[in-house]
Amino acid sequence: MSYRETNQIEYIRSIKKKYGDRILIPAHHYISSDIIDIADFTGDSYKLAVDVASTDAEFIVFAGVRFMAESAAVLAKPDQKIFHPVHEAGCPMADMIDEKKAQAVFDKILAETGIKPAPVVYMNSYASSKAFTGRNGGAVCTSSNAAKIIDYYLSQDRPIFFFPDYHLGRNIADKINIPEDQIVKISKDLTFDKAATKDTKIYLWDGFCHVHQTFAVDDIKSARERYPDIWVTVHPECDRSIVAEANEFGSTQQIYDKVTASPEGSKWAIGTEINFVERLATENPNKVILPLRISPCFNMGKITPASIASILDKIDKSIQSGALLPRNVVVSDQLRSDASLALNKMIEIVEGK
Ligand code: 13P
Ligand code: SF4
Repeated sequence: MSYRETNQIEYIRSIKKKYGDRILIPAHHYISSDIIDIADFTGDSYKLAVDVASTDAEFIVFAGVRFMAESAAVLAKPDQKIFHPVHEAGCPMADMIDEKKAQAVFDKILAETGIKPAPVVYMNSYASSKAFTGRNGGAVCTSSNAAKIIDYYLSQDRPIFFFPDYHLGRNIADKINIPEDQIVKISKDLTFDKAATKDTKIYLWDGFCHVHQTFAVDDIKSARERYPDIWVTVHPECDRSIVAEANEFGSTQQIYDKVTASPEGSKWAIGTEINFVERLATENPNKVILPLRISPCFNMGKITPASIASILDKIDKSIQSGALLPRNVVVSDQLRSDASLALNKMIEIVEGK
């Protein structure tokens, strides 16, 4: 029976059963629950990158946005094939900078200060941005390890060019007490908000995630009016005013682990993507779990059971017929080799390897 004529979740389960470990479906926490239920593992962007790289599956159907599938393709073994179900499931933040603009910023910093900054690129970026970073001795970071990566370069007395998310960079700069006059914000026309000097510690590109920019300080106040002892945790892509008002910030996986480990009856207000917050509420029925506001990532929402079933159908047919199924996430050898320098540098700094 064709996957079109049957329940797509059932179809996905049947193909997974048929091929066992040969096919792997990793899913990001923001993906809808019906897909999370059939996924082999879930995680934030760091956990997924590391976990996928440690498997031997031949076919990896990545349930996440495109930059995540690309990162998996960079780290994958040569015979592993990564598939991304919907090409259009991109990330507007990743689109806010490209390699050319990153190079122009790097050159401007060098021209104005005589110092080459260490590029630190957020995982939420395309392979060409990661490749630029790798070529220039920098590292990728994710929201769970950005502080560690930034610390690493600052402790070597190297200023940092951080992109594309301004807010993550700014929240970490606040956390590690970088003074205001040592933080330079760079707008899209390459204007610096203050003069770059030899003392500048961090240059922040002005990118953002619209999903995390919807939260307001009043959302936190309303949650506290309802439950005075509620614990407010938010993603570091939120504005610093939200982070300052919240009790803490953390990456998706950090939020997941804390809420899951908290005692029954604990109360949480969470400022991040709604699919994830709703799933946490379902998985923790004896705790109060409120979203600060309903804020969906429409791009994650483009990954549906039908889109995954359609890729599995192609994989099934190619295995049956012996016909080659071309990869649909293709990263050139040069990009792969440069981007993997930056991804592996992150893993080396975080894992201490
Ligand atoms: P995490 O690094 O927390 O998985 O975040 C991914 C993301 O897309 C947040 O917007
Ligand atoms: Fe991109 Fe924001 Fe969606 Fe994350 S939540 S994938 S940063 S748009």
